[in-house]
Amino acid sequence: MNDKSNNDFHRIQNRADIVEIIRSYIKLESHGKNFFGVCPFHDDHSPSMSVSPSKQIYKCFVCGASGNVFNFVENYLGVSFIEAVKIVADKVGEAFTIRESREDQRNSKYYDIMNLATLFYQNNLRTNAGKMAREYLHSRGLNDEIIKDFSIGLALPENDMLFKLLTNKKIDKKDMDALGLVADGENGTYDLFRNRIIFPLKSSTGKVNGFSGRIYNTDSQSKYVNTKETIIFKKRENLYNYHLAAPAARQEKFIVVCEGFMDAIRIYSVGIKNVIATMGTALAKEQIALLKKLNVRIIIVMDNDAAGELATVSLGQSLMKENMDIGIVRLTGKKDPDEYILTYGVEAFRDNLRNPLSYPEFMEIYLRKNRNLKNPTELTAYINDVVNMIADSNDDILIEVTINKLANEFHLDKDLLKSRLKNKELLEEVTVHEESVEKTDKEAKTTGKFNKAFKTMLYYMMNDTDAMRMFMHYHLDLPKCKYRLVSNNLLYYFELNREIDFADYLTFSEDYNEVSEVVKEVIRDVHADEFTLDDVEAVILVIKDILDKEKIKDLKREMKLELDVNRKKRLFEEIIEIKKGCVKDGRD
Ligand code: CTP
Ligand code: MN
Repeated sequence: MNDKSNNDFHRIQNRADIVEIIRSYIKLESHGKNFFGVCPFHDDHSPSMSVSPSKQIYKCFVCGASGNVFNFVENYLGVSFIEAVKIVADKVGEAFTIRESREDQRNSKYYDIMNLATLFYQNNLRTNAGKMAREYLHSRGLNDEIIKDFSIGLALPENDMLFKLLTNKKIDKKDMDALGLVADGENGTYDLFRNRIIFPLKSSTGKVNGFSGRIYNTDSQSKYVNTKETIIFKKRENLYNYHLAAPAARQEKFIVVCEGFMDAIRIYSVGIKNVIATMGTALAKEQIALLKKLNVRIIIVMDNDAAGELATVSLGQSLMKENMDIGIVRLTGKKDPDEYILTYGVEAFRDNLRNPLSYPEFMEIYLRKNRNLKNPTELTAYINDVVNMIADSNDDILIEVTINKLANEFHLDKDLLKSRLKNKELLEEVTVHEESVEKTDKEAKTTGKFNKAFKTMLYYMMNDTDAMRMFMHYHLDLPKCKYRLVSNNLLYYFELNREIDFADYLTFSEDYNEVSEVVKEVIRDVHADEFTLDDVEAVILVIKDILDKEKIKDLKREMKLELDVNRKKRLFEEIIEIKKGCVKDGRD
């Protein structure tokens, strides 16, 4: 950092009074020379944080949180240091113009373009041509204030209005491409968003970096069109409404996580501002980190359908792994929080928020569904599932409580359950082995390993278009099994849509009973909230390796029985080729 920026920080810090700034977020009372308030950085009810006007620092006696005015804003709002400096500068009316980095400087050009587009869409909504869209929004109970808060706009049906506007403003076509605003077709360049209500998507600091367009006057097309990954829109880092929800969550000490952004908007508009939407996908590690940074309780309120239930299972598991404090709400009677609030009102909704289940409680109910626990096999499966679920937790007390409950209910030895807890991997292999008594140990292990790898692969494919492509690229010769059913179904979905959307695929798979059952199993068993393409390839190679070994075994058997010398030789060569890893029908 150069001298100039240091001076800038000092200038702003000198202008800002830490007491006034902190007071704009939490209540402070004066005692003697210092001020005291309830520390927002840990769960507390007594005023353990002191703020010193003379030293211009804050310090919590309980959790040890401390720092200057910038640190407070940084931690309280969950923003970067530079962001915090900007916020303080704004509050005291000081100019602050340093850029974070060269990368940010480059990106500011892109944010400017996104702002232009946002203003353009917002303006469309106010024109005569926007009448129907306005009526649609009003009919869904969104008033003009909410429309403004969420910067909602409208893309008109014309082909290339945004393209023309941006061209007039001397914006480079390649920048429009980089932002996913336009595309090229047979009849020239066209806007990606047409005839849709536009919901701007904002970064964790509130800058528009993408759009979601919803149909409103037709139902012949897909409901939403979303910005794909761009230079500034990283799906893994975006949570709908995070920038508004973060400060409210700190105040309320919890945050509501729902699926749809219409749900988030509804919940926000009835006064619960601490709400974000996942936008129908499994959360990536970056998104989970954003939630974790808030250091508040997470209340998961997904849709009231099978997909929402599965999303709850998987998100809950990821958050539990991260040792986060979670509560689960399952609504009944209406399909999502939006409709629930419209029908039963905000107080009924708040009641639900006040009475969430713990994650293990929710999972116990979930894992019991469609199982007859009087049947020993099903009971065993249930117990294994509960143990597997809780094994991901780092919370000793939660584990103890869950295991004790299980032991008491089914009269089991606690130590036995705990020993199983220690090695999930082992458990999986043992279970597979028990299932296939007629097989040899080695074969059972191979099957177990294959199923595990294949399930992981399916999970990747459900979450990531590139994983899907990579899977296709390898042309694996898969054995007939229930997992292959799902991979075929996924390939079919992919053929229809050319990309994969987790939430959408779940809905799609529900039309195929057998597939849907296995999909649920995959989501329940695989917990890979973060993965790279290297991980995907690694799993494919494990699968390929197992298949190759099986193939070699078969060929050897054949070779042994073959009497014709020439054919014997051909079989031998085939084995050698597989061993070299260059099967003819394999990778291209
Ligand atoms: N979604 C998407 N593409 C789809 C369907 C859904 O991107 N074809 C995402 C959207 O972000 C949506 C979320 O998944 O907000 C949840 O989907 P859904 O429950 O169908 O949407 P709602 O928010 O309920 O929207 P609405 O009430 O307007 O139908
Ligand atoms: Mn809805």
